[in-house]
Amino acid sequence: MKVVQTVAGVREALMTPREEAMRIGLVPTMGAFHEGHLTLFRTCDQECDVAVASLFVNPTQFGPTEDLASYPRDLERDKLLAEEAGIDLLFAPTVEEVYPLDFQTAVEVTQLGSILEGASRPTHFRGVATICLKLFNIVQPSVAYFGRKDAQQAAVIRTMLRDLNLTIELRVIPIVRDADGLALSSRNAYLEPDERRRALALSQALQAGLEACRAGGGTEAALATARRMLDSAEGIVVDYLAVADLDGPTLAGAVRVGSTRLIDNVLLDEEAR
Ligand code: PAF
Repeated sequence: MKVVQTVAGVREALMTPREEAMRIGLVPTMGAFHEGHLTLFRTCDQECDVAVASLFVNPTQFGPTEDLASYPRDLERDKLLAEEAGIDLLFAPTVEEVYPLDFQTAVEVTQLGSILEGASRPTHFRGVATICLKLFNIVQPSVAYFGRKDAQQAAVIRTMLRDLNLTIELRVIPIVRDADGLALSSRNAYLEPDERRRALALSQALQAGLEACRAGGGTEAALATARRMLDSAEGIVVDYLAVADLDGPTLAGAVRVGSTRLIDNVLLDEEAR
C-alpha cells in the first residue's frame, strides 16, 4: 500500500490507473478504523481495480465544542489495517494541505443538511459535503463507499452528487454491529464499560421500533415504540429520534451517554413510507 500526504502525490499515483481506464474506488474516512471501515475497504477492493482510502480528521465538520481535539488518531495502526483490508493507496493529508490559509469555499445541501444531525450540529454537513467534494475532485473515483450508519451523511452526499451533476456511483454499505447490537463507531472508544452498557438502549429501541413497524403499525408505531424505550432507559439523554426519508424510510436517533454522542438508525420497510 502506498501512503501519500499531498494532492499532487494522489494525482501522480493514480495517473497510470486512470490512463488505463481502471475502476478507481474511494473510501473517505477519519481513521480510527474498526470493522465497519474494514468492510468498506474490502468491498472497495473486491469491486474496483484500485482501492483508495482517505484518512483525514476533517476540522470543518466539528462544531466549536465538539471532540475534534480528542478524536481518536493512530496512523500507524490504521495503515496496517487498511493494507490488510486491500487498500492500495492511502491519502493521509495534513490540515494545511487540505485547507490552505485563504480557503473560503463551502458546499451546502440546504434542506437535507439542516434536519436531524444538521439541526443539532448546524455546520456539520457543510463540512462533510465540502471535504467529500474536495476528495472526489482529488481522487476522481468511479465509485465512493460510505457506511449506512451515517445514513443522513450518505443521503446528503447522494443529493450533492445529483445536484452538482457528479457521475460518481455511491455505494452505501450496511451497518456493522457488535454481537449485542451496538453499531460500530470510532466514538465507541470513548465509552467506559458502564456507558457502553447504557448505550445499547439506542440500538435496542431502534430494533424494537423496526419490529413494531413490521408487525403492521407502520412508521407511527416504530417511532412511538422506540421513543417509549428510550424515555425509560437510564443514563442516556436523547438528542433526537425521528423517521425521515434517508434513501428510504429510516428511524434515526442520537443520544448522549456521558460526554459521548452516538447515532444509529434502522431502515424501515419500503411499505412503511
Ligand atoms: O464519515 C466520516 O468518517 C466523515 O464524515 C467523512 C465522510 C470521512 C468526511 O470527513
